[in-house]
Amino acid sequence: MGEFHDPRLVEVYDAECPWGWEDDFFMAVLAERSAHRVVDLGCGTGRLAIAMAGAGHEVTAVDPAVAALAAARRKTGGERVRWLQGTAGQLAARSFDAAFMTDHVAQSYPDDEEWDGVLRGLRRALVPEGRLIFDSGDPAFEPWALWNPRDSLRTVPLPDGAARAWSEAAEVEPNVWHVTERYRFPDGRELANSATLRFRTEAQLRDSLREAGFRVDRVYGGWGREPVGLSGDGEFIVIAVATPRLMS
Ligand SMILES: C[S@@+](CC[C@H](N)C(=O)[O-])C[C@H]1O[C@@H](n2cnc3c(N)ncnc32)[C@H](O)[C@@H]1O
Repeated sequence: MGEFHDPRLVEVYDAECPWGWEDDFFMAVLAERSAHRVVDLGCGTGRLAIAMAGAGHEVTAVDPAVAALAAARRKTGGERVRWLQGTAGQLAARSFDAAFMTDHVAQSYPDDEEWDGVLRGLRRALVPEGRLIFDSGDPAFEPWALWNPRDSLRTVPLPDGAARAWSEAAEVEPNVWHVTERYRFPDGRELANSATLRFRTEAQLRDSLREAGFRVDRVYGGWGREPVGLSGDGEFIVIAVATPRLMS
């Protein structure tokens, strides 16, 4: 979710987010076309960046969260990845063949101006015809309407015991969800991690991509490559291509 500045939050993120079918999907899309230089924006603890580097890609993984990057570096295979603390604006121009934002990183820019800036930064960083691949929750699935806090109570196994975890979430403005994950660790310490996530419509995503200099190649609605609205996954999984036109 938000930015992981505390090593304990990084530990629970890793415990709760192991390799999944979403990662298999992203690896398969990467393999569809030749793309040697890859950037993973919002790489978190590096699960996917390390796998991409292991598959022979030259990977730059970017995140503002120091603790997440420190944990990523320490992982097996972490030495193959170039880790960069920061965000899209710091990427050198025309340096990548593919860019990824995975696990709803694209929704962590609730402000439209910031989102437009991220897309422009990624467009600048990609070579013409380079691909941008990301997932974003479909607001038509109205996750806030189905939300029941009791369903979020869970136990997270950690090396020194188990943490109790629960989530609080509310729709704070139309299609914007504020989520707080709370954890009580075995030593009694409590930590929270908050994020504000915007659920953009498919039309909003397409408009912002076009404005930033991308054309949309495909939008899937689920991890089995289903059409939008038909999978139950409630996703927009977007594959866009950098057009030759460079925005300022
Ligand atoms: C839900 S995690 C996803 C991590 C990873 N992509 C994955 O698939 O597990 C969201 C990540 O986005 C990062 N993030 C938040 N704001 C960001 C920004 N402005 N630029 C880049 N990354 C950001 C957070 O620090 C966090 O690591």
